[in-house]
Amino acid sequence: MGLTSPDDAAVWRLSDDKAIVITTDFFTPVVDTPYEYGAIAAANSLSDVYAMGGQPFLALNIAALPDQLPTEVSSEIMRGGAEKAREAGVVVAGGHTVKDKEPKFGLVVIGFVDPRNMLSKGGLKVGDVLVLTKPLGAGVTTTALKQERAEEAHVQEAIEWMSRLNKMAGQLATEFNLRGGTDITGFGFLGHGMEMAEASGVLLSIEYEKLPFLSGARGYAEKGIFPGGAFDNKKHFEEHVIFNETLGEPAQMLLFDPQTSGGLLLGVPKEKLTELQARAKELEQPVWVIGEVRVGKGIEVS
Ligand code: CO
Ligand code: CO
Repeated sequence: MGLTSPDDAAVWRLSDDKAIVITTDFFTPVVDTPYEYGAIAAANSLSDVYAMGGQPFLALNIAALPDQLPTEVSSEIMRGGAEKAREAGVVVAGGHTVKDKEPKFGLVVIGFVDPRNMLSKGGLKVGDVLVLTKPLGAGVTTTALKQERAEEAHVQEAIEWMSRLNKMAGQLATEFNLRGGTDITGFGFLGHGMEMAEASGVLLSIEYEKLPFLSGARGYAEKGIFPGGAFDNKKHFEEHVIFNETLGEPAQMLLFDPQTSGGLLLGVPKEKLTELQARAKELEQPVWVIGEVRVGKGIEVS
């Protein structure tokens, strides 16, 4: 893939039916428990391969850890990452660690994709139905946790979703020959949606009431518990978004909330939707229909 439009991973063609996919991601802890932090960071790193319609097979750890961090903690982070990688069918073959004040962890991931059957941000077509595969609200929930204002049940729910692989979502995309897709991460739903709208030369029409949220998300949003990244995203992307005027500030801000290890946003040709929903059920992969692709540009949220 060229560098002209942003995509989730680097892709290098090896032959007509095989290309290598390479990506990396790492971040500071989003939760208090080292094992879960490692698992979430790994699921997030693997996600960019799934977001291209690829299959990951090999990974390396990248870690930056404080000198005084107990070895039990660092080994729990690595164990969380390695077990998540194993669940994905991926071998962690080594890695590199440096010293740093604040812990950072993630993976370099290598996978394969059939270049004729690849997902990209520019692959949406007018008439496609937009489908999302994880609920939104991870940023507000983990920010509430950092501020010690989060309910335990909300944190557990966020951890479950963040550590969930996008493997089955990626499999759906491959099985149904989808072309337009990305994963929702740091730029939030609207930021990554904008990347797709721009790269595909289309307008995304979103129905707010159909968007899935984590149970605590709306409540934390009402209290104004947003991470700094949500404001950056708003500043960056809001000029391209038209909100229905009935949507209040917290509701709008939630769509700029940066996600950690979020779901895939996929464009599904209308005639494939019913069959895809049935297959998703078989795979125990939730899919939410949240809007559609139209002629125009930017994003409309009604
Ligand atoms: Co991505
Ligand atoms: Co990424």
